[in-house]
Amino acid sequence: MSSGDYFEFYLPSKDWGNVEATAVQGNTITFADGSEALCGISGLWNASLGYGNRAVAEAINEANLNAATLPIFRRGSAYSREAATRLLDFALPHEYASVFYATSGSSALDAVVKLSRQFHDIAGNPKRRRIISFTGSYHGVTMGAMAVTGSYLFQDVYQVDQRLHIKIPYDDQGALDVVMKRFGSEVAAIIMEPVLGSGTLPVPADIVDAVYAYRESEGFLIVADEVATGFHRTGPKFASHHWTQPDVLVLSKALTNGTCAASALLLGHRVVDALDQAQQVFWHGETQAGSPQSCAAIVATLDEIERQGIATSAARVGGKLEGFVSGLESLSPRVKAFGRGSFRAVQLFDEEGEVIGTDKVFELVGECRRRGAIVQPSPGALQFVPALNYPDAELDMLFGRIQGVVADYLGGKLA
Ligand SMILES: Cc1ncc(COP(=O)(O)O)c(C=O)c1O
Repeated sequence: MSSGDYFEFYLPSKDWGNVEATAVQGNTITFADGSEALCGISGLWNASLGYGNRAVAEAINEANLNAATLPIFRRGSAYSREAATRLLDFALPHEYASVFYATSGSSALDAVVKLSRQFHDIAGNPKRRRIISFTGSYHGVTMGAMAVTGSYLFQDVYQVDQRLHIKIPYDDQGALDVVMKRFGSEVAAIIMEPVLGSGTLPVPADIVDAVYAYRESEGFLIVADEVATGFHRTGPKFASHHWTQPDVLVLSKALTNGTCAASALLLGHRVVDALDQAQQVFWHGETQAGSPQSCAAIVATLDEIERQGIATSAARVGGKLEGFVSGLESLSPRVKAFGRGSFRAVQLFDEEGEVIGTDKVFELVGECRRRGAIVQPSPGALQFVPALNYPDAELDMLFGRIQGVVADYLGGKLA
C-alpha cells in the first residue's frame, strides 16, 4: 500500500525543516522523526487556549452524540442559539444585533462582500459596490476573499475579479482621501484587519478615525476582520474594541480554539434592520455552518476563556512577548519589532540593510524548528503567536531557542 501524499496548502516543497507532526501535548509538538518542538504560533493562530483543550473536546463530543447533524437551516438549533447569545454577550460593550455563521474565515469574507453589496442594494444604492481593503492584508483564499486580500496570491492567474476592489496602504491617510474623493459614492464597505496579520502591523488610530469620519458622510459599512486578532490575541477581547463599533465583526480561528471549521459574522443593527425590513434572503447558507458541534465548541471556548482567566494571562503572555521582541531588537539595528499583545513579529535585515528574502525566512523558520521552536514565516520576518495561557517557564524556553537562531543569524553563523 502506498502512503497517501497530499499538498501542504500551496507550498510545493517540504524542505524547510518540516517533518510531519504526529501528536501534540500541551505546547509540545512531536514529529515523525521523534523530535519535539514548542509551538510559538498556536496551531495556525487558532489554538489560543493551547492544544487539546479537554472541555472543548468534550463539548464537541456531546454535540456529536446528541445533536449531530441538526442543520441550522430553517429552524436553527438550541446549540446555534446558545452560541449566538454567548457571542453577542462576549462582544459587549459593542452591541451587535445578530450572528451569522459560516465555515471558515475565507467564506466569512465572501459573505462580507456579498452582504455589503446587498445592504446598499436594499437601500436603493446599487452603485455602491466597491470594496476597499489594505495593501498587504490577508483575508483568505476563496474568490471573494482573495479579491479583498491585499497580498499577492496569484489573483491574476486565478482570474480573481478585482475590478471593484481598491487596496490602499494601511497607514496612508492621503491615499484614503484620494480614493474617497474619486470613488466615495461607490464604496460599499471598508474592510480592516485591526492588526495586519501579514506583518503584525497595527492600523494607526488616525487612519481608523478617518475611515469612521468618511462612514459618517458616505454611509458605507465598516468591517473588522478579526479572524486572527479576536479573543484576546492583541489584548482586549477584540482589537476593534478600541474603535467605534464596526458594522460587521468577522471571527474564526480562536472562535472554537481551532477545533472546528467555523466562522461567524457579528452583524450590527444597521445591517440586520436593513435585511429585516426588506425581508430579503441573504444567500450564503452553507450546509455545515452553525453545526451543533461548532456551536458547542464556541460555547465551551468562551467558558474556558472565562474559567482560565484568559484576559489576565493574555496580558502576561503579551507582556513577556513584548519584552522578548524588544530584547531581540536591542541585539542589533538589523532587527525591527512589530505587533501588539500576543501577536508580534521581528523583521530582519541582512548586512546590506535589505529586508531578508523569503528563502532566508524559511531557512530561519526551519532552523528554529530544528532547535525546538515553531515560529511563523511572514514577509521578511519571524512571527510569534503563542497560546494565551502559555506557562512562563515554557515561554522562556521557547524564546531562548528563537533568540539563539536570531543571534546566530546576526553573528554570521547562519548567513
Ligand atoms: C485576518 C484573516 N482573515 C481571513 C482569514 C482566512 O481564514 P481561513 O483560513 O479560515 O479561511 C485569515 C486566515 O489566516 C486571516 O488571518
